[in-house]
Amino acid sequence: MFEHLREHTMSPDLDELTTDLGVSHAAHDRSNLRWIPIRSLGQSQRETILKHLMTLSAEDRQRRFGHVISDERLAAYTQSMDFERDALFGVYDRALRLAALVHLAFGALGALPEAMAEFGISVLPRMRGRGVGSLLFDHAATLARNRGVHTLMIHLARDNASMLNIVRKAGAGITFIGGDASASLSLPADTLGSQIQELLGHQAAELDFRLKRQGLRLPT
Ligand SMILES: CC(C)(COP(=O)(O)OP(=O)(O)OC[C@H]1O[C@@H](n2cnc3c(N)ncnc32)[C@H](O)[C@@H]1OP(=O)(O)O)[C@@H](O)C(=O)NCCC(=O)NCCS
Repeated sequence: MFEHLREHTMSPDLDELTTDLGVSHAAHDRSNLRWIPIRSLGQSQRETILKHLMTLSAEDRQRRFGHVISDERLAAYTQSMDFERDALFGVYDRALRLAALVHLAFGALGALPEAMAEFGISVLPRMRGRGVGSLLFDHAATLARNRGVHTLMIHLARDNASMLNIVRKAGAGITFIGGDASASLSLPADTLGSQIQELLGHQAAELDFRLKRQGLRLPT
């Protein structure tokens, strides 16, 4: 974790969150920094991603996409996701439903300038207010930094209090234009530590997912 991104301390409702996510107490010991399994998503998860997005209310769709995107447009958006260029990752609950999703769009091959990435997030309502959004934001910043990105961009509504909190705490600069806001976070260069952090996080999340599948008696 780098200096201007906060280190997360335990929240009082940790037990409830660990139960919802199906994370063992050992992995989530109160003496350690908070950890949740954040899993990378690939082509084969398009349907899971779409299912997650379809459950978003009109208000959440407005906040996530800047307009009330229709189910048809969500399907087209999911279909057009470029898993080679961008990073998609999320958090599964203990029933292996995708409870939170991040789309980190990289600039080099897309519409954004090189060395920039854009962050988009949705956390299902029942999981909110418990630090999941903040942890996913930190994870995105680490991933972006490890890929040589210098600036992380976030578009949000001016009245999106929780997202504003997340970007403010990370140290982003924020510009307000009418009802919208645009946040920009400068990222430091990667280090061996940030690369190892990503690698270990990835491996731990895969292990967690496999164990949950076994627990649900699904094929691994
Ligand atoms: C924005 C969103 C991702 C936040 O997720 P989350 O898991 O609730 O975030 P966190 O629990 O980490 O909370 C982030 C901060 O906001 C605060 N917060 C949470 N809910 C809040 C609320 N209703 N009002 C004000 N602040 C709130 C938290 O206390 C926390 O601040 P803290 O670190 O000082 O305690 C989630 O609400 C969401 O998916 N919204 C719909 C889509 C969206 O708005 N996307 C953002 C634009 S891409």
